Amino acid sequence: MDLTSFMPVPSDIPLPLPLDRVLGEALLVVVFLAHILFVNLMVGGSVLTVVCEIMGLKRRDYDTLAREIAKTITVNKSLAVVLGVAPLLLINVLYTTYFYSANALTGSAWILIVPLVILAFLVAYAHKYSWDRMASAKGMHIVLGALAAVLFLLVPLIFLSNINLMLFPDKWLVVEGFLSTLALPNVLPRYAHFVLACVAVSSLFLAIYLTRPSFPVETVFETFTRASLRRGLLGLTFGATLVQFLIGPLVFFTLPTRGLGWFMIVVLAVGVGLAIAAVALLWREIRSARERIGGRVMPIVGLLACTVLCMGYGRHLYREGAVGEHRGLTVARAEELTRLAAAAQLRAELDIEPAGGPPGERVFKSVCTACHMEDKVLVGPSLREIRQLYAGDPAGIVKWTLAPGKKRQRFQQMPAFRMPESKLMAVAEYMLEPPAPAREQPAPTGEAPGGRG
Ligand code: HEC
Repeated sequence: MDLTSFMPVPSDIPLPLPLDRVLGEALLVVVFLAHILFVNLMVGGSVLTVVCEIMGLKRRDYDTLAREIAKTITVNKSLAVVLGVAPLLLINVLYTTYFYSANALTGSAWILIVPLVILAFLVAYAHKYSWDRMASAKGMHIVLGALAAVLFLLVPLIFLSNINLMLFPDKWLVVEGFLSTLALPNVLPRYAHFVLACVAVSSLFLAIYLTRPSFPVETVFETFTRASLRRGLLGLTFGATLVQFLIGPLVFFTLPTRGLGWFMIVVLAVGVGLAIAAVALLWREIRSARERIGGRVMPIVGLLACTVLCMGYGRHLYREGAVGEHRGLTVARAEELTRLAAAAQLRAELDIEPAGGPPGERVFKSVCTACHMEDKVLVGPSLREIRQLYAGDPAGIVKWTLAPGKKRQRFQQMPAFRMPESKLMAVAEYMLEPPAPAREQPAPTGEAPGGRG
C-alpha cells in the first residue's frame, strides 16, 4: 500500500540535528519527567485544594488543610513552567515535523495555552491571597479555587491531545481542530491516567511535606495529628494508584498498534511490577500503628519513581515506534530526491545526451525527464502546468532553471542547472511546444505523492 496517500510526507531534506540523537532522547525523557512531576503537583494540588475547601465547610481542619495545600500550588507551578522549557525545546528539535504539524492542526487551542496559563496563575494567586478577606463569602472563594483547578486541568488536556496527534501522521489529513483530536482513541484514557497520577503524586508529596518535623501540625490543626494526616494522604495515594491498574491497561489497549514493540512492553511490565510493590507497601503503611506510620515512605517514593521512569521510557519507545515509519519515508524520499538531482546535474555538467532528435529534446531527455513528465506530477510539476505558466516566455524558463526559487509547498526545491544559455533556450522552447502524440502518456491514474502543489 502507498502510505504517502494517507499520510503527508514532507519532501524537504531533513536538517541535521544539533546534538547526538540518543543523548537528545535520553535528555528528553529525564527533563520531561522532571517537568511532569511539578505539573502533577500543581494540578493535583489545585484539585485537592478545592475538595478540601468544600469539606472544610463541615470541618474546619479541612479548610486549614486546603489553605496549606494552596500555598504549595503557586511554587510548584513556577517550577513546572521553568522545567517545561527544556522538554519543549528538545521535542521541537527531535520531532520538528511531528510537533509542528500537530501544533498547526490544533491551531487556536494550542495557542490558547498561553492566555489560559496566565489566567490560571492569576486566579490561583487571587484564590490563595483572598482566604481571609473572602471568609464571609466562602462559596465565591470556592468557585475561585474551582476555576483555577479547571484551568489547570484544561491546559494539560490541550498539550496531551497535541502530543498524541503528533504520533499519528496518518490522522493528520482527517482531524479538524482540537475537539476532533480528543476523539482519537488514546486521548481520554491517557488524560484520566494523568489526572489520577496528579492526585497520587500530590497526596504523596503532601504526606511528606505537611508532616515534616519542622511543621507544627498540632498547633496548626485542631484535631488532625501527624499520624492521621499521613494516614489520610497516603490512603489517597494508595487509592489513586490502585485505580491506575484499571486505567493503565485501558491506555495501553487503546494505543494504535503501529508503535508497539516487545522491548517497550517489557519496559512497561517492569514499571507495572514496581508499581505493584509500591501499592503493597502503601497498603501496609496505611494499616500500620500510629507511631510507626511514615517509616516506609522513602522506599515507596523510590519504587514509584522507578515506575515513572519505566513508564516515561516506555512512552518514549512508543513514540519512536509510532513515528518511525513516517520518518523512514521522509528520509527515503529526501535521499531519492537528492540522488535524482545529483544525477541530473552530473548529466548536465558532463553534457550527456541521447543521440538523435532536436537539441532541446536531447537536453530535456537527458536532464529534465528525471523530474518532469508530460501529464504526471513526478518530482516536479508536469509539462502541461509549465506550458500554461510560461506560454510565450521561454526566457522565463531559462531564468528559472539557472536559479530556481522555492515555490510550491509540497515540492522540494529544484536544483539549479548551469548550462550554456543556448542549450537552455532550446530546452525551454521544446518544453513549450504542444505535446507531440509520441510524448503523450496514458491517461494519468491519479495524483502522485507530492502532487498537491
Ligand atoms: C531533480 C528534479 C528536477 C530536475 C532534474 C528538473 N527539475 Fe524543474 N522542477 C523541479 C521541482 C521540484 C520543481 C518545483 C519547484 C517548486 O515549485 O518550488 C520544478 C519546477 C520547474 C519549473 C516551473 C517553475 C515555476 O515557475 O513554477 C520549470 C520551468 C522547470 N522546473 C524547468 C526544468 C528544466 C528546464 C529542467 C531541465 C534542465 C528541470 N526543470 C529539471 C525538479 C526538477
